[in-house]
Amino acid sequence: MRTIEVCLTPDLIGQHDLKGKIVVVVDIFRATSCIVTGLSNEVKAIKPVGEIEEAKALGEQGYLMAGERGGIKVPDFDMGNSPFEYQKDDVKGKKVVISTTNGSQAIVKSEGAKEILIGAFLNLEAVAEYLLQAKESVVIHCAGWKGTPNLEDTLFAGALIDECAEEMETTGDSALVAHQLYIANHENLFGIAKKSSHAERLSGFGIEEDLEFCMKENEYQVLPKLVDGEIVS
Ligand code: MLT
Repeated sequence: MRTIEVCLTPDLIGQHDLKGKIVVVVDIFRATSCIVTGLSNEVKAIKPVGEIEEAKALGEQGYLMAGERGGIKVPDFDMGNSPFEYQKDDVKGKKVVISTTNGSQAIVKSEGAKEILIGAFLNLEAVAEYLLQAKESVVIHCAGWKGTPNLEDTLFAGALIDECAEEMETTGDSALVAHQLYIANHENLFGIAKKSSHAERLSGFGIEEDLEFCMKENEYQVLPKLVDGEIVS
């Protein structure tokens, strides 16, 4: 039987063998929710990079520069890290380069996997449907916060495990923890997610609407995938 495991933070990714597996990267608040929203809104491609300077170099080549540090838009960037910015008409047909505190780093660190997909509650069903018809085992790579696990990404990992339970068996206690967290809270996902430390951090910036939007399930059917260094749908 195929296996499904959970890496709770990019600092632990070295403990997981990614070779031949599908990695699903998740950063619910907010990087992967932004990517899913952008690709559903006709953004042409999104290039994840680790460093701000890399993003600026691509900005000079015509990419829209997006991202944050500590939740706050990087000065001189075209966009911050709100899904609502990715719903605007002026991003349609454009290429975006994204650099964020955790999410874009997790994508970059997933290198070595057979396939890298982008997941969020917004496209949970689309990701699950794809995984169920695939043949490979799966690693859910949670972006966490600066090397520590977080509640909302772990909750998503549990939701995805639940969707795939008939076809895959969990391996490792982090997968069990994620699944049990989801089972205990599946009737009130936003209620538990808003208690997370990043939700508190972001609500200090007055962006509660972002949090509520990021916790919506199956708003989009898009399946973002990393191809030649760029995420496309
Ligand atoms: C990240 O990559 O750490 C997040 O997306 C931060 C944020 O909420 O802007």
